[in-house]
Amino acid sequence: MAASLERESWQYKGIGASQEDATHSPSSKTANSRFWNVLMKAAMIILTGILLWVSYSILANRIMLMMLARVMLPGSHNCSHTSTKVPQYFQTYPELWAGPTATGRAPFLAQTNPVSFAATATFVPTNPLETAVPVVGQNQNESIFHLMGHLSPYFSNPNGFGVAEFPLPAGANISQVQMLSRHGSRYPTTGSNVQDLGDKIAKYSGKFQATGLLSFLNDWKYELGAEILVPRGRQELFESGINHYYQYAQLYNPNSKIIVRTTTQDRMLKSSEYFMAGFFGLQWTNNATIEVIIEGTGFNNSLAGYNNCMNSNNHRNMGGRNATDEWVSIYLKDATARLQVMITGFEWTIQDTYAAQTMCPYETVAYGYSAFCNLFTYDEFVGFEYAQDLYFAGSSAFQSPTGRSVGIGYVQEIVARLENHTLGYSGSQINTTLDNNTVTFPLNQSLYFDFSHDTNIMSILTAFGFEQFNEFLPSTHHPGPHNLTVSHLEPFGCRLDIEVIKTPQPLGPDRVYLPGKEATYLHFMLNQRTLPLGLNFPECGDRIDGWCELDVFLDVQKKSTALADYDYSCNGKYDAPAYGAITDGAPIRL
Ligand SMILES: *[C@@H]1O[C@H](CO)[C@@H](O)[C@H](O)[C@H]1NC(C)=O
Ligand SMILES: *[C@@H]1O[C@H](CO)[C@@H](O)[C@H](O)[C@H]1NC(C)=O
Ligand SMILES: *[C@@H]1O[C@H](CO)[C@@H](O)[C@H](O)[C@H]1NC(C)=O
Ligand SMILES: *[C@@H]1O[C@H](CO)[C@@H](O)[C@H](O)[C@H]1NC(C)=O
Ligand SMILES: *[C@@H]1O[C@H](CO)[C@@H](O)[C@H](O)[C@H]1NC(C)=O
Ligand SMILES: *[C@@H]1O[C@H](CO)[C@@H](O)[C@H](O)[C@H]1NC(C)=O
Ligand SMILES: *[C@@H]1O[C@H](CO)[C@@H](O)[C@H](O)[C@H]1NC(C)=O
Ligand SMILES: *[C@@H]1O[C@H](CO)[C@@H](O)[C@H](O)[C@H]1NC(C)=O
Ligand SMILES: *[C@@H]1O[C@H](CO)[C@@H](O)[C@H](O)[C@H]1NC(C)=O
Ligand SMILES: *[C@@H]1O[C@H](CO)[C@@H](O)[C@H](O)[C@H]1NC(C)=O
Ligand SMILES: *[C@@H]1O[C@H](CO)[C@@H](O)[C@H](O)[C@H]1NC(C)=O
Repeated sequence: MAASLERESWQYKGIGASQEDATHSPSSKTANSRFWNVLMKAAMIILTGILLWVSYSILANRIMLMMLARVMLPGSHNCSHTSTKVPQYFQTYPELWAGPTATGRAPFLAQTNPVSFAATATFVPTNPLETAVPVVGQNQNESIFHLMGHLSPYFSNPNGFGVAEFPLPAGANISQVQMLSRHGSRYPTTGSNVQDLGDKIAKYSGKFQATGLLSFLNDWKYELGAEILVPRGRQELFESGINHYYQYAQLYNPNSKIIVRTTTQDRMLKSSEYFMAGFFGLQWTNNATIEVIIEGTGFNNSLAGYNNCMNSNNHRNMGGRNATDEWVSIYLKDATARLQVMITGFEWTIQDTYAAQTMCPYETVAYGYSAFCNLFTYDEFVGFEYAQDLYFAGSSAFQSPTGRSVGIGYVQEIVARLENHTLGYSGSQINTTLDNNTVTFPLNQSLYFDFSHDTNIMSILTAFGFEQFNEFLPSTHHPGPHNLTVSHLEPFGCRLDIEVIKTPQPLGPDRVYLPGKEATYLHFMLNQRTLPLGLNFPECGDRIDGWCELDVFLDVQKKSTALADYDYSCNGKYDAPAYGAITDGAPIRL
């Protein structure tokens, strides 16, 4: 510890200097020198006192700094770089000679942006990561990275969800935003098929011979990590934080500190930290406190709702997996035959083909490039995307018996915030210890930032009742364009933004003000595109902007808890429903 060494050497120097003075003094013989001797001694005592006081106050300061750092920084970073006692040329904080530091007006793009879909206008959302991989059958305007389902690096849904985007009408204000974000790009999760392929290739190493496009496999090794964010994942959350700052900065009161919620998993905590760094800058601990909700089997956590929902993790929720397997055996038949001739001494199966295709997105975000990507045609990536749609539909959405129950806790939390109350009951997986308390479930914020997982966000959309995602998806063929396109819903770093908007008068369905009093609306945006509330909840009306009156929406949500049927869905002993038997995200009561 450079800091404590520095303190010791300072003390040593001080004591040394006074000893030198003391050995000098007895050699004097005159009265004058006696007087000087007394004076010197007095000065010495005072000096020693001052030095001791300085040393102790430095020590006390340092202890306080260390304690503060522990309290303030959830990652418990080392404090040497934040110390005020390092030499000036090593000190980065507090800043010295920082130059002028005035910040300008906070932006509020969501409120001021003149969004237009007119023929002469250009709509430009954020760009995804791209690498130049030759893919057979791909047009200039297309990208396989937009066809990777939940493994797609973040990109904004290019097609929208059924309505266009509009600027806020004159006189309207956004008064609150609740964001729910997925973590960023990561390594494979435990039990992933890519790990299995890696193990198999290692097992047959030296015994197989690969040629052509597969020849790279002869000296390829599986070297991916597990679960944590890759650099692209950090960038996604940092950029999302920046994007949200541009959209909503004026909703933050610089004199307040907000609570943001994530889970204890490493990638979840780090995702929230990178987001905060993007939104507030590196001194974000002045502006936000991260609440980490325990993510582990048996714990209640609305941001990881499956943990307390037994049936979501057992044979009762296998319809999606089975539908995916069936589709994989169809769309990867040709590719498997193609790859089998390129490898000898290795029994290459259709599941190996699927794992090889899954390796492409994982290696791309981990290394920036993957030789697995151009083993497949553009159409085969269209098939890959669809395999994820089947999986999400059957395991987390309307075709899953636990589709609604896994997401219901978070829906209850959103409603509670909109209705300004805490949650002290436990009909779902919310943690009432946290939610029954305004310290850990505050109600006075205009910005709420929560962090969760892909399947959990799919279940939250299901629990709200976004029925535009409930259409049956066949496992035998690709049905063409369809709403439940996982790349558009749950790419890495995906985000749902729920805006509360106040208008001076009621705003008609065609966005013309009607006579009347002030009104409040909700506007749901998923990946920077509007989710049309009226399409999903007819009570909201057929509005061109997809908004819904707050009271109407809250009224619609009164049914959600009953529809989720939490206890039966999660703990009931019903027969495992085959894929397609369930249509409303909950088991059918006989
Ligand atoms: C903090 O310092 C200790 C001891 O020098 C070191 O082991 C640890 O890795 C450091 N932690 C961080 C986050 O830098
Ligand atoms: C790209 O352009 C081609 C040719 O105009 C069109 O058929 C295709 O649908 C476009 N693809 C996308 C993803 O927009
Ligand atoms: C964060 O908090 C600090 C200290 O209160 C404040 O000076 C700063 O303006 C805040 N940051 C933003 C982005 O508002
Ligand atoms: C609720 O959260 C608290 C605080 O983290 C924790 O101690 C408790 O175990 C949690 N309860 C459940 C049932 O998850
Ligand atoms: C929310 O409720 C608290 C106490 O119950 C109250 O002080 C506050 O004004 C309410 N806020 C809103 C926006 O209604
Ligand atoms: C919620 O808090 C209230 C007031 O502190 C208390 O009376 C109630 O028992 C709590 N409920 C639960 C389920 O913890
Ligand atoms: C956790 O959830 C269960 C219902 O699934 C509930 O019975 C229990 O009270 C909850 N515990 C807490 C601390 O919220
Ligand atoms: C909410 O209230 C708490 C407790 O009074 C306060 O510390 C916090 O700054 C408030 N938050 C906002 C955003 O005003
Ligand atoms: C999406 O769902 C809506 C409502 O069910 C439907 O009208 C629309 O055609 C669907 N869009 C696609 C591309 O399937
Ligand atoms: C919007 O904000 C402005 C400025 O604070 C205020 O004058 C106006 O009344 C607000 N409008 C509504 C509908 O809340
Ligand atoms: C899934 O497939 C397995 C193996 O074919 C089968 O035993 C099981 O019943 C199927 N489950 C569902 C829910 O369809």
